[in-house]
Amino acid sequence: DAAICKFVSGFRFVHVISPQLFAIFAFATCGGYSGQLRVSVDCINKSDSNLSIGINFAYPFRLNRVEFDVPMCEGRRQERLYLIGDFSSSAEFFVTIAVFSFLYSLLATVVYIFFQNKYRENNRGPLIDFIVTVVFSFMWLVSSSAWAKGLSDVKAATDPDEVVLLMSACKVQTNKCSSVYGPRWSGLNTSVVFGYLNFVLWAGNIWFVFKETGWHKGGAARYPASSSEKQGSSDVWFLTLPVY
Ligand SMILES: *[C@@H]1O[C@H](CO)[C@@H](O)[C@H](O)[C@H]1NC(C)=O
Ligand SMILES: *[C@@H]1O[C@H](CO)[C@@H](O)[C@H](O)[C@H]1NC(C)=O
Repeated sequence: DAAICKFVSGFRFVHVISPQLFAIFAFATCGGYSGQLRVSVDCINKSDSNLSIGINFAYPFRLNRVEFDVPMCEGRRQERLYLIGDFSSSAEFFVTIAVFSFLYSLLATVVYIFFQNKYRENNRGPLIDFIVTVVFSFMWLVSSSAWAKGLSDVKAATDPDEVVLLMSACKVQTNKCSSVYGPRWSGLNTSVVFGYLNFVLWAGNIWFVFKETGWHKGGAARYPASSSEKQGSSDVWFLTLPVY
């Protein structure tokens, strides 16, 4: 089929695929995250110490459910502590938008390629497309901003230097508490960047879908049935695909 040949050709292929890839990157980097920090509690009585206390956490960042045991530097006694905060709402919101964004762009690409006529019927396809694209742009902006804020809170709550302040043994001057290492943030920083890139991608595509609706021509149908006209508009046809 000629349309599919064109579709696969050259850089346009990238434009069709990119919204799906960007959505996958966004939810894989955030939803697939797991991190660890490690602290040491060096008691005045060395035998009570634990110099390597590992604390693991992961998506969806319900940190107040992350428990760990630390020595109290009083014989063998240990205390059970929890990290502070629940950042699941912003993380889950972000991942949900990414998943639905991926599903919609996949569906839209299929409809666009295999059901062109249905898409154009009564201009309903472009209309729905326009509304959904506006909604997704907005959602990407909101969820990326919320998740950027959530991430900075997660970073503060899992900073090893802050975590040792929770431990009663560390409030005693003679015991030495310190950070061994903190979590790696590159994956989550990437997820925020991809969130904003998705926003830019979808917002930019509002214009292309707007053109599809034909509203800028005073509501007149933009795609007459004549084949020569269709040929002329093929460029717009492809430029519109990044929408998905
Ligand atoms: C250290 O441990 C010993 C034996 O467990 C105990 O007698 C002593 O009081 C401890 N010292 C401190 C400072 O807790
Ligand atoms: C130190 O803490 C870890 C948990 O992070 C635990 O697995 C380990 O057994 C502890 N070591 C000692 C000597 O208590």
